[in-house]
Amino acid sequence: MRLQGKTALITGAARGIGLAYARAYVAEGAQVAIADINLAAAQAAAASIGPQAFAIELDVTRQDSIDAAFAQAVEKMGKLDILINNAALFTAAEIVDITRADYDKLFAVNVSGTLFCMQAAARHMIPRGTGTIINMASQAGRRGEAFVATYCATKAAVISLTQSAGLNLIKHGINVNAIAPGVVDGDHWDGVDAYFAKLEGKPLGQKKREVGASVPFGRMGVAEDLTGMAIFLATDEAKYVVAQCFGVDGGNWMA
Ligand SMILES: NC(=O)c1ccc[n+]([C@@H]2O[C@H](COP(=O)([O-])OP(=O)(O)OC[C@H]3O[C@@H](n4cnc5c(N)ncnc54)[C@H](O)[C@@H]3O)[C@@H](O)[C@H]2O)c1
Repeated sequence: MRLQGKTALITGAARGIGLAYARAYVAEGAQVAIADINLAAAQAAAASIGPQAFAIELDVTRQDSIDAAFAQAVEKMGKLDILINNAALFTAAEIVDITRADYDKLFAVNVSGTLFCMQAAARHMIPRGTGTIINMASQAGRRGEAFVATYCATKAAVISLTQSAGLNLIKHGINVNAIAPGVVDGDHWDGVDAYFAKLEGKPLGQKKREVGASVPFGRMGVAEDLTGMAIFLATDEAKYVVAQCFGVDGGNWMA
């Protein structure tokens, strides 16, 4: 029960890694707002966890939605100790085929969404002089990838925002850090696999098998591989950890 009495809002937590975080946080004693653009999925996710989790509708690209979601979370839980900026979109394309619409949408969700949810959380946390913000980066933010320019750029921006916000907010007792997963199986990677099937002319499922085989640990990640770091960063043991990005990737990026 390392998060007993803590409250958290996790964006994009209706499925995948965010849902695993919500489950793990509740198991550690926290109350969790599952904030997702897909309210029905968020409600189903909350129901599957139990009374310590509840759903909130949130579109991280809209300021009115951010304001309403954070106000609702604080009203329901009485305070906000932890924000995990987890919602994100992925696309892949040849450089010559990237559209402005796709580029703008990815930056709106992955980058602006992260910044303005950090801002909303910080405004609640500053008067209390304490808080934890965890941003979901990616190994993709630490290097370029031939078909993944836009997503890689958004995740590099998430790492940069983590550094600046970490340095700015620590004077208020707010720790901002990031987690960079490698390749994590689930709905997200089913989508990635489908992009690569088209771009590299591979049968569905082949890219997944290839990336899984090349991870030094010996397999793709699962969402639960990420939860230990997300719990640790929200505990008081991590109070001296500021503005960092931690790879949790089975050694994939280092290799
Ligand atoms: N799965 C991986 O291999 C992997 C690797 C590196 C980094 N990541 C990062 O980890 C995080 C979680 O990944 P995942 O695999 O669980 O993704 P996912 O696609 O399974 O889940 C993303 C969630 O975000 C929600 N969402 C999308 N747009 C939104 C918006 N505008 N407002 C609010 N919610 C919105 C979706 O409804 C969905 O529930 C993401 O930031 C992702 O970039 C994932």
